[in-house]
Amino acid sequence: MLRDIQDEILKLKKEKDVCVLAHSYLSHDICEIADFVGDSFALSKKAAQAPNKNVLMCGVKFMAETVKLLSPEKRVYISDSCAGCPMAEQMTPQELADIKKAEPDRKVVAYINTTAALKELCDVCVTSSSALKIVSEMDDKKILFIPDCNLGGYIKDNVKDKDIMLINGGCPIHNRVTAKDVEEARKLHPNALLLVHPECKPEVVKLADYVGSTAGIMDFAKESDEKEFIIGTENSIVEHLRFDCPDKKFYPLSKELICSDMKLTTITGVLSVLKSIGETDENEILMTDEQIKKARVCIDEMLKRG
Ligand code: 13P
Ligand code: SF4
Repeated sequence: MLRDIQDEILKLKKEKDVCVLAHSYLSHDICEIADFVGDSFALSKKAAQAPNKNVLMCGVKFMAETVKLLSPEKRVYISDSCAGCPMAEQMTPQELADIKKAEPDRKVVAYINTTAALKELCDVCVTSSSALKIVSEMDDKKILFIPDCNLGGYIKDNVKDKDIMLINGGCPIHNRVTAKDVEEARKLHPNALLLVHPECKPEVVKLADYVGSTAGIMDFAKESDEKEFIIGTENSIVEHLRFDCPDKKFYPLSKELICSDMKLTTITGVLSVLKSIGETDENEILMTDEQIKKARVCIDEMLKRG
């Protein structure tokens, strides 16, 4: 049954000239039919290089918007039109415009988890894997970092020569994890290394053996000589690592680390969006040339510096 659905997807991808991108928080059955799987930074680069005239982004809306910004000539589709990222959508462009007015001498650094409308007002975009490098190499001393206070706080702690302003906000999923969860997981698995995403609270990040993006965490675990790992990011990464490294042991830091927006994308959903391509624009990311031009500035800056 699953194999039949996957075969139909592979056939439609070819017929309709679609490149399928999957964020690594998606389930294994979807990653298997994707042309590229990765973190948001890797996917944003792959999208720009893909030769196909259509791209289907399996993930959440800001990721599909980013693909469209990088490939305006392509038709870009999202795997589920209701899949958003609460962190990306928590601040309105008007709120950001007001802060910029009050703080006119700050460069605005946006985590890639922001809507395209917010990106229009930002100077440089960053991902969890490029944030530290990009911010520490900026000439500007006064920075406003949006929207994730945890990632922003992590950068602030590691880049001491800059005045970094943060706005209250973050990922509701990674924010669920506490130092107590770390204590319990360490007690249960005393020989395991703790690998966490910088979207987690500072009290959790401080206790980690490694801090990095989803791809960073996966690479670290695969390359390490150690055999046991506690994973402090979305629990699909635990699933992928168990599959990729059957000789190692992976434990979720918390059962609560599940992003319900990412889970909206299913293999049958991917099939129905592929079927609809060319017939309806229900799942298509539509933006004007003007919107694309403005929002792309901070993405181009990221690619130049990343
Ligand atoms: P990555 O940049 O690690 O892919 O993170 C995206 C995200 O949404 C993490 O919650
Ligand atoms: Fe957004 Fe958090 Fe889900 Fe990532 S895990 S997509 S930051 S809500």
